[in-house]
Amino acid sequence: MSSPMRIGIAGLGTVGIGVVKLIRKHARDLERRSGRKVEIVAVSARNRKKVRGIVLSGYEWVKDPLDLVNNPDIDVIVELIGGSEGVARDLVTAALMAGKHVVTANKALLAHHGHELALLADKQKVSLCFEAAVAGGIPAIKALREGFAANDIQAVRGILNGTCNYILTNMRESGRDFRDVLKEAQAKGYAEANPAFDVDGIDAAHKLALLTALAFGIKPDMDSLETTGIRHITASDIAHATELGYRIKLLGLCRREGTRLIQSVEPCLVPEQSALGGVEGVLNAVQVRGDFVGQGWLVGRGAGEGPTASAVVADLIDIARGHRVPVFGIPARQMKVGNFASTDILEGHFYMHVVVRDQPGVLAQIAAILRDHKVSVEAVLQRGRDPGKPVSIVMTTHKVKQADMRRAASKISGLSLVKGKPCLMRIEQD
Ligand code: HSE
Repeated sequence: MSSPMRIGIAGLGTVGIGVVKLIRKHARDLERRSGRKVEIVAVSARNRKKVRGIVLSGYEWVKDPLDLVNNPDIDVIVELIGGSEGVARDLVTAALMAGKHVVTANKALLAHHGHELALLADKQKVSLCFEAAVAGGIPAIKALREGFAANDIQAVRGILNGTCNYILTNMRESGRDFRDVLKEAQAKGYAEANPAFDVDGIDAAHKLALLTALAFGIKPDMDSLETTGIRHITASDIAHATELGYRIKLLGLCRREGTRLIQSVEPCLVPEQSALGGVEGVLNAVQVRGDFVGQGWLVGRGAGEGPTASAVVADLIDIARGHRVPVFGIPARQMKVGNFASTDILEGHFYMHVVVRDQPGVLAQIAAILRDHKVSVEAVLQRGRDPGKPVSIVMTTHKVKQADMRRAASKISGLSLVKGKPCLMRIEQD
């Protein structure tokens, strides 16, 4: 039997505590599966006195997480602090420079600095693993980097944020508005007190940037990622989408379009009967299309103590086994800058919801703009009759260039009879 693999954990929030519990509970199985004991040597967190519900007295307590790196008894640093800068970045950089393996759940760090850290990991011949950074318990990273590695990947789509999926599902089930449901999600602990990272799509964007890098062998690139959140989705949008046979999902999408790549995070309509349409509540899903494998997909819990700890410890098992693969699936020096295009080059069907003053001729004005932008309408819904008052007009279109559709929506929002901005979403087929 080889010598034990000794780890230091920085960050003892929900995930850190989950990792400690898992390693204790499955100690014997971990040893059998990795051929070595996996031992926690030291831990570090901001507040030593915080009640965490488990006994930590068996581990050395380190005040400054960087001291974990200086401890010669530690082989692997588990970084669960979070954030793209500051302590987390310093710790991961120092650990790699010191020749220690790193396991992290930090999507922001890797989305912004993944390439430079991967170069360092390659140089030092150590692992930098981040399974827990994307879709929690779903082995999406391993699937793309290893399971689907034989394919030319054409597209990846995912429901990558459980908070948004919970809110959208709950809005549909209860008929309530975004604000109401968000408040309830915060009370239940499904949404943070500051929900911006989740509901503005930033968390999903970090995750998508990592999936895009793995899928296409390019550097993670947040700058060319178009991100739209879900704050503007109304109960009325959800009801209309349902009536038309769709669900609204915050989708992360990267895809080859000819020689270009696109990546975006945005709310889309998906058929209610489709694979993604059935992924409800806090669940996440990742769908991969490869040239030989066809469509493959994974679904499961994307956050929380158990699922995220499961992903962190899976990475630790790989390291203990001596299974080292390039951070993003290819040597870091071969990772190129992606040749990205705007999602304007996409073609698709669209959903558009316009609130207008109920008055003869308004539909004709909208139709004229659509005609001028070569947008062909598939279906129109207009409910109720309230002369002079705001009413909803909802349309779906035939296939159209996204650029034309956006231009048309912008023109429509300038009409004097139109209230506010039209809500425009692409309809993603299966
Ligand atoms: N807040 C995220 C979510 C999990 O709701 O899916 C961590 O990235």
